[in-house]
Amino acid sequence: MRGKVCIVTGASSGIGKETAVALAQAGATVAIVCRTREKGERALAEIRERSHHPGLSLFVADLSSQRAVRQVAAELDAAFPRVDVLLNNAGLIMGERVLTEDDLETTFAVNHLAYFLLARLLLPKLAASAPARIVNVASESHRLGTLRFDDLMGTRGYSGWTAYAQSKLANIVFTYELARRLKGTGVTANCLHPGTIASNFGNAGPAIIRALMRLGRPFLRSSASGAATSIYLASSDEVQGVSGRYFTGRRPRRSSRASYDPAAATRLWEVSEELTASSPR
Ligand SMILES: NC(=O)c1ccc[n+]([C@@H]2O[C@H](COP(=O)([O-])OP(=O)(O)OC[C@H]3O[C@@H](n4cnc5c(N)ncnc54)[C@H](OP(=O)(O)O)[C@@H]3O)[C@@H](O)[C@H]2O)c1
Repeated sequence: MRGKVCIVTGASSGIGKETAVALAQAGATVAIVCRTREKGERALAEIRERSHHPGLSLFVADLSSQRAVRQVAAELDAAFPRVDVLLNNAGLIMGERVLTEDDLETTFAVNHLAYFLLARLLLPKLAASAPARIVNVASESHRLGTLRFDDLMGTRGYSGWTAYAQSKLANIVFTYELARRLKGTGVTANCLHPGTIASNFGNAGPAIIRALMRLGRPFLRSSASGAATSIYLASSDEVQGVSGRYFTGRRPRRSSRASYDPAAATRLWEVSEELTASSPR
């Protein structure tokens, strides 16, 4: 990975941090995008120590804010003459319905709209650096999700789990549509399920998820093991040119039937464009 520039979002902990360590160990220049400077600096120091690699930098952005996503995209664009890999990894599950500064439901904003907007803003640079890769961290929980186009923001009967499953289905539907649109550009788009992993995941989630993650912790796989498929998709020659696939355990796998619905893909793309339009709503 020497000479390659990789961007990893949500690298302050868990799977994102382990992914950043491995890419740095492989010699890539790695930019981590973290919600707060304090956690980001801590993660950066750890990644530096574990990788013995000087090519690391921190960018701070609360990805629930579209202003912050635009700002960090501009900073990344200015900082690097090329971008080889964009790894959209930041994600969360919420215990209650909270609106972002853009008046959007937080889970949908962070888990889907930030992936969508950051990918689109960095696309010119990725295309100019081709062959390049976009990797979106999704989840098997997408199988329980529905894209509720009549209520994407969960105004009726909010459930943190339903919002999360919807957002992870959106990751996959978006990845497939992005791959279709990127055909012939030399930029690939794939998504993955990392496994069920003992990380900070669920800390802001519903009480039941927090309890399950705590009780299940001794039986769950490590964040390092959860990073394996992300690292594979970001760096392996085996997937050079492979696009529009969903992977688990470093293998392509069929995602849910709903995720292949082309009408839903077009509609999600259009709604996401509207919801991330730069003019103030
Ligand atoms: N753990 C699992 O079992 C599992 C299973 C399937 C899929 N996943 C997916 O894997 C990805 C990584 O999760 P993880 O397990 O590593 O959990 P984690 O340890 O909680 O890491 C999530 C990362 O996302 C960041 N993040 C959350 N909201 C953000 C925001 N508004 N702006 C910027 N960054 C934000 C967190 O930053 P802070 O440190 O500031 O909170 C953290 O760095 C997520 O997309 C998740 O949906 C996880």
